[in-house]
Amino acid sequence: MTASTRMLKPGDTIGILGGGQLGRMLAMAAARLGLKCQVFSPDPDSPAFDVVQHATCAEFADVEALELFANDVDIITYEFENVPSATALVLAARRPVLPSQKILETTQDRLIEKDFITRLGIGTADYADVSSVETLHAAIARIGLPAVIKTRRFGYDGKGQAMIREGDDIDQVWEDLGTKSAILEAFVPFEREISVIAARSCDGHVECFDVTENEHRDHILKISRAPAAIPAELAAEARSVAEKIAHALNYVGVLGVEMFVVETKNGPTVLVNEIAPRVHNSGHWTLDGASISQFEQHIRAIAGWPLGKPIRHGAVVTMTNLIGDDILSYEEWLTVPGATVHLYGKGPPRPGRKMGHVTEVVPADRK
Ligand SMILES: Nc1ncnc2c1ncn2[C@@H]1O[C@H](COP(=O)(O)OP(=O)(O)O)[C@@H](O)[C@H]1O
Ligand SMILES: [Mg+2]
Repeated sequence: MTASTRMLKPGDTIGILGGGQLGRMLAMAAARLGLKCQVFSPDPDSPAFDVVQHATCAEFADVEALELFANDVDIITYEFENVPSATALVLAARRPVLPSQKILETTQDRLIEKDFITRLGIGTADYADVSSVETLHAAIARIGLPAVIKTRRFGYDGKGQAMIREGDDIDQVWEDLGTKSAILEAFVPFEREISVIAARSCDGHVECFDVTENEHRDHILKISRAPAAIPAELAAEARSVAEKIAHALNYVGVLGVEMFVVETKNGPTVLVNEIAPRVHNSGHWTLDGASISQFEQHIRAIAGWPLGKPIRHGAVVTMTNLIGDDILSYEEWLTVPGATVHLYGKGPPRPGRKMGHVTEVVPADRK
């Protein structure tokens, strides 16, 4: 155990930055282990506020509120990667922040993240730094089309990115993106998308959940299936990529690594798409489909406790996101045999808003 971490005891308090569904599910997992959570979020309607006794509703730039929050908790973690670095610095001066501030810097910026992955010798889509319309033209000349342009920072659920195809008006694409800080990525003709949810403890032990296969609709995760229908060697490769990333970041907690499966003349391999320094939507199946959930695993890791060995409960586990108006069918889902329904307690269902999810476990004898 390093100086920056200490072993928590039941009854201790974890501070969580961000009050969405991930913070809510983290707090519920912590409660099961006898730990308390205090949630910090600027949004008074935060779903995570509903499940904790103590909450701070303040802006992330409110230094006084941050200091009071830090005084009330034993360690601090977060449910989203866009924690401003100034916020993390104020907090880290008072309490351990896990995963560490340095990890945020790497994963908040797609260019820094891709450079980091590349330095580890791990494959990604071909990419280029783009900071002007001239550099965009040059990047297209090198990488070719189709390609995907993405803002370096603050993109999620497909926001802040656009596909560029042959014949598109490049100057217009650049203007529409509205930033001076982007990357161009070659479009990857992937065979499927997978993710690895990995946990690393403060003594450097890594546990990965079964590789998950992910189906997106309108750039938003719709369905995850575990285990991914891929050969065992490819699953092992995917897990070892996630493990390498976790070690290189000296990571403590749960991270999600999104990958593309691509065919090569030597068989299938993986390219890393992005790293999420937090629990991840594609790991929600672990709540009902495994002996330890990703949320519990994260809490164990940051608490300085041993990680669990996750054992999947069924032959196949699927997780379906209830997005926007999908939530209106929750009563139907409640009657589906074997389904477990999770509702996040959010306000009105807006298009693209993640409102809940459903897990279905197929027992081994009904594979
Ligand atoms: N280079 C690419 N080639 C092919 N598809 C891509 C590429 N980049 C992104 N996508 C598609 O868009 C989705 C969202 O992109 P991603 O980079 O993961 O951003 P976000 O932060 O929005 O999740 C991916 O899961 C994938 O389906
Ligand atoms: Mg993604």
